[in-house]
Amino acid sequence: MKIAIIGTGYVGLVTGVCLADLGNSVVCYDIDKEKIKRLQVGKIPIYEPGLKKLLESLDSSKQKKGRIKPGKIIFTDDPKTAIEKSKLIFIAVGTPQKRNGEVDLSFAKSAAQTIGKFLNNYAVVVNKSTVPVGTGKLVKKIISKKYHGDFDIVSNPEFLKEGSAIEDFANPERIIIGAESQKARKIINRLYQSFNCPILNTSLETAEMIKYASNAFLATKISFINEIANVCERVDADVKEVATGMGLDSRIGKSFLEAGLGYGGSCFPKDIKALHNIALSNNYRFKLLKSVIQVNNDQRKLLVEKTKRILKNLNDKKICLWGLAFKPDTDDFRESAAIDLIRLFQKENARINAYDPQINYEEFVNRNNFKNKINFYSDKYTALKNCDALVITTEWNEFKKADLKKVKKILKKPVVVDGRNIYNLEKVKKLGFKYLNIGR
Ligand code: UGA
Repeated sequence: MKIAIIGTGYVGLVTGVCLADLGNSVVCYDIDKEKIKRLQVGKIPIYEPGLKKLLESLDSSKQKKGRIKPGKIIFTDDPKTAIEKSKLIFIAVGTPQKRNGEVDLSFAKSAAQTIGKFLNNYAVVVNKSTVPVGTGKLVKKIISKKYHGDFDIVSNPEFLKEGSAIEDFANPERIIIGAESQKARKIINRLYQSFNCPILNTSLETAEMIKYASNAFLATKISFINEIANVCERVDADVKEVATGMGLDSRIGKSFLEAGLGYGGSCFPKDIKALHNIALSNNYRFKLLKSVIQVNNDQRKLLVEKTKRILKNLNDKKICLWGLAFKPDTDDFRESAAIDLIRLFQKENARINAYDPQINYEEFVNRNNFKNKINFYSDKYTALKNCDALVITTEWNEFKKADLKKVKKILKKPVVVDGRNIYNLEKVKKLGFKYLNIGR
């Protein structure tokens, strides 16, 4: 099938590359000409394990405009090339959050206008972005204003996780297809016929809701285990073991029960607030979600409080942060715990050294309005020099494997505040660290 992808952000890029790998002819379109130019020469704007290699194997640079072969992918800033003759058109644009917490649908609306302008035969327009219930119908209305022929709308939310997106695409646990017509349902079911997982056919609205409900539930699990962790600390229980014990019950499940600094990223914080707002604008107060958000915010404050307690005060203290990404295996720092921690530490007049294996430091500073300067390092051990404490903010593998004897030697004081519970309690204590963690 010829497939167009509108938007080469995280979701669009991964979906496009993986669909081409399945044997489809894929055209990725973006309004950002610079980004397209870079993609045309194989430069990927994000760090995602396996993506670069997969794109290289699809040999996209040797393709000519409009003559795309099956199993190949091209990148274009020309909407006509992408949309004309495409059987499936995926909308994978950003749906950021407005200042008032509502979802900003301007990119989705403008994608719909572009589709309406260039559509010239029957196609199925598939929405992949996380959008409020009712957006599918809105997109249909916008396209219909410009294109009067036959077309269908489908909601096919994505459940990829950053850092394991390629693997998640290849091994989905479910595929949700929200459609209004049998014709569209058939086409999209055919696209996914090689997948060995349940395919759930629903209405447009139900599919849109499944995405929000799933993310909100996972975030609730995280806030729940963080609350349990805070109780564990007070009653001498170990939250890691509690989570293992809980997870053995298949009704609960073991995933998303890792206590720590809480959730971040481009999805959970935005989606949880959006669902809360969607409920509110439909005259329903979603009480539970409000607490989920509150608990998440408090986890970050708690960690700073712990550091303050162990160092007596934070004034002029030097803190080394290991990890700026919102989770390991990504270069994404959107809504990461590290951003909140730096703000909270700087408010207390602490000085910050920071190291992350994948983050572009310049971008990190430019996108966040920090009060004071941060000292960035290209080596995790050098970053520890003259520091009063090491704070673990992201559970990168290289931090788990760090040489703790060396860490102790370099730090000014042997204090480790572990916001992701990555170290063995006995081992760090034996080495003579003052070791604070979450819920153990
Ligand atoms: C999340 C969902 O997991 C995906 O299914 C979904 O497709 C995606 O959002 C989206 O809506 O696009 P992602 O944001 O990549 O994926 O990250 P997750 O792996 O879900 O982690 C989110 C945050 O929760 C991270 O900050 C992570 O550190 C935190 N987390 C996760 C915990 O604090 N504890 C856990 O046990 C698990």
